[in-house]
Amino acid sequence: MTDAPSAAAATAPAQRPYSPGLEGIVAATTALGFVDGAAGRLLYRGYRIGDLVEHGTYSAVANLLWTGDWDPAHRLPTTAVPAAVLATLRALPRTAKPMDALRTAVSVWGATQVLAWPPTPEQARALTAFSPSALAAFARLRQGLEPIEPDPSLDLVPGFLYQLTGEAPDASTARALDAYFIVGAEHSLNASTFTARVITSTRSDMASAVTGAIGALKGPLHGGAPSEVVEQIHEVSSPEDAERWVRDTLARGDRLMGFGHRVYRAYDPRAAALRKVAESMDHKPDWLQLAIAVEDVALRVLAEKHPERALKTNVEYYAAPVLMGVGLTPDLFPATFAVARHAGWTAHIIEQAADNRIIRPDAIYTGPTERDLPA
Ligand code: ACO
Repeated sequence: MTDAPSAAAATAPAQRPYSPGLEGIVAATTALGFVDGAAGRLLYRGYRIGDLVEHGTYSAVANLLWTGDWDPAHRLPTTAVPAAVLATLRALPRTAKPMDALRTAVSVWGATQVLAWPPTPEQARALTAFSPSALAAFARLRQGLEPIEPDPSLDLVPGFLYQLTGEAPDASTARALDAYFIVGAEHSLNASTFTARVITSTRSDMASAVTGAIGALKGPLHGGAPSEVVEQIHEVSSPEDAERWVRDTLARGDRLMGFGHRVYRAYDPRAAALRKVAESMDHKPDWLQLAIAVEDVALRVLAEKHPERALKTNVEYYAAPVLMGVGLTPDLFPATFAVARHAGWTAHIIEQAADNRIIRPDAIYTGPTERDLPA
């Protein structure tokens, strides 16, 4: 590895195109996730997200992302939380954000492991199986409850719910959260995944890369907002009230949460998959039918107000009833999303390492010209 400029970088940065936020810049190749915003398609290694939700589990999807092999019977039970991590989680204030607790847990976990270069699917498995246990442990500790040991007979998602509640979930509940984990597993080169790849490109280890990725996902511009969807739906009193509420909300200049997307111009395929799951849940929230009525009106009114821009339902809209329906509290939503995204992050980490070049863009210098220190 050398610091010599490549042919592309031989000209001064000020002479090259500058793209704030790297928007439109191609910065990697990937065989993992394909996001087709125009057609509303999301593929993991070529497989449609709707088919993966229907026929797979999160464990099988994670294995697909890591290895390229589709084995629908693949299992990945959660694993025990090392003592050093548990001691750290116990030391955190109960008021700590679950996202901060998870980020800290992954960092401490990394200090308990030997994570050799290059990162491997085995490392990805170990980290992905650890994080649900760590999040569940913190969720209990902050309520004054003791953490629950993993049950190796349960696969990752039902195991996570068991460690949260102390009861193995029914099949419909486990299935619904599994679907959420599958749609959350991977979404190409978003900010947190890019963060993970940047950290990996220095030959740092997988725990460091995922710790950084969680930090990036924590920001409100990235992490999504299913809890805000829940709050908004509760402002609507009945299906008949939906039209008034949608129009009043837009007239105030507020946004309808769960609609619009930076990349998708068509109906988000993850929303379509989660809507089916939400409707088939045994314990769906009582406001699901109201949400469906609000969606119909919102799509119609958004099309009327923004004929120039397709504003469709995004994944957060139907993540909200699924996450509420499985019994998670809204303050656990962002960290649960982070746990689900482990599969994609770690797959990108492995992919980055396999064809590595340190990620080191340039900046246009806008400071003072060369000058002498004041005497
Ligand atoms: N409700 C009302 N109007 C909207 C919405 C919305 N949800 N989304 C976009 N618009 C309007 C904007 O007001 C803007 O109109 P204007 O040009 O008259 O000002 C126009 O559409 C374009 O908006 P942008 O912000 O430029 O669109 P962008 O594609 O950058 O935004 C975003 C995408 C941030 C997701 C936006 O649609 C939004 O704020 N949605 C609501 C929040 C939400 O659902 N977040 C979750 C996203 S999914 C995820 O993160 C996994």
